[in-house]
Amino acid sequence: MSDSKPTRPPLPDLLTLGIETSCDETGTALYHGTRGLIGHRVYTQAIHAEYGGVVPELASRDHIRKLTPLIDDLLRSSGVAREDLDGIAYTAGPGLVGALLTGASVGRAMAWTLGIPAVAVHHMEGHVLAPLLEDPAPAFPFLALLVSGGHSMIVAVRAVGHYEILGDTLDDAVGEAFDKTAKLLGLGYPGGPELARLALEGNPERFRFPRPMTDRPGLDLSFSGLKTFALNTLAKTDGSDTDKADIARAFEDAVVDVMAIKCRRAMEQTGLKRLVIAGGVGANRRLRERLTRLAADSGGHLYYPRPAFCTDNGAMIAFAGALRLAAGEHTDVAIEARPRWPLTELCEPGQG
Ligand code: KG4
Ligand code: ZN
Repeated sequence: MSDSKPTRPPLPDLLTLGIETSCDETGTALYHGTRGLIGHRVYTQAIHAEYGGVVPELASRDHIRKLTPLIDDLLRSSGVAREDLDGIAYTAGPGLVGALLTGASVGRAMAWTLGIPAVAVHHMEGHVLAPLLEDPAPAFPFLALLVSGGHSMIVAVRAVGHYEILGDTLDDAVGEAFDKTAKLLGLGYPGGPELARLALEGNPERFRFPRPMTDRPGLDLSFSGLKTFALNTLAKTDGSDTDKADIARAFEDAVVDVMAIKCRRAMEQTGLKRLVIAGGVGANRRLRERLTRLAADSGGHLYYPRPAFCTDNGAMIAFAGALRLAAGEHTDVAIEARPRWPLTELCEPGQG
């Protein structure tokens, strides 16, 4: 059931600047209500690689250095003057508080000086709506597998702002499990893409990892046991490159299998046929292939953003912000950043 025409909600003729600084990517983009995405820029902070993970204070400082030049470059190359902007959307959470405050302060200050509204965007709403930037866009309602470094959720998305969380991880987020397993295999940071690359060389028959939480009903997930299983498996080998590739393959197969089983259950439980993958782990090729088949076999269709809009980016924030500004929302002059922010708080009372 592939929707052949774009189903993005119609928006007024307004130009929104989006700013994303929740973690280690500095992102900015311009979204126009009728012309669509005008341009986007992402700067990925390389500074964390030597520490094997994101160092919050270094992230904040790098955002401060990079954000304004990145916005200037985007505006210049898009032929847009600051005065042409109608609104500014910035990620207000969840994320690292110092990093969030950088984007929030710049966004708020720009909006103040230009006399235009600013809107605080929920980072995960940005991810969940990112597939709507593509053509064809999924029509509402749809089921979203939201998988990033900080979240692993299955969400029924009824409309903008109407999110029902059907399943969540009980421990590590799936991206976190990828990163931690990659680290113990001696791979660089961020480990997810590196582990996926190594898995391509692995033998799928050599090791079989468990499929956590699939032997019981429900849609919750758990990934921390897989990381421990990888550690114990590695200890029983010589730790050669071949051993590591085989472990990477077995780990990835288990993760993909678990997510496919849970998505199938969620589709059966809700009757929803449109499936969306969003968030950084949505860039994983094997996961996309598996869910493409699952959706097609269930008479549905899989939607996902291009890889650059799976990982953190400004386009998803500009788009989510444009939708909220179009609905008449904007945020008070106070600079707002919320390191923890449940997605369900966006729902209007009585609506899931
Ligand atoms: O959405 P994102 O950029 O940031 C958060 O909001 O967390 O997601 C980053 C996560 C990291 O854990 C990274 O390792 C993972 O997404 N990731 C992948 C792949 N590309 C990025 N995991 C598995 N396979 C990939 N190809
Ligand atoms: Zn993210």
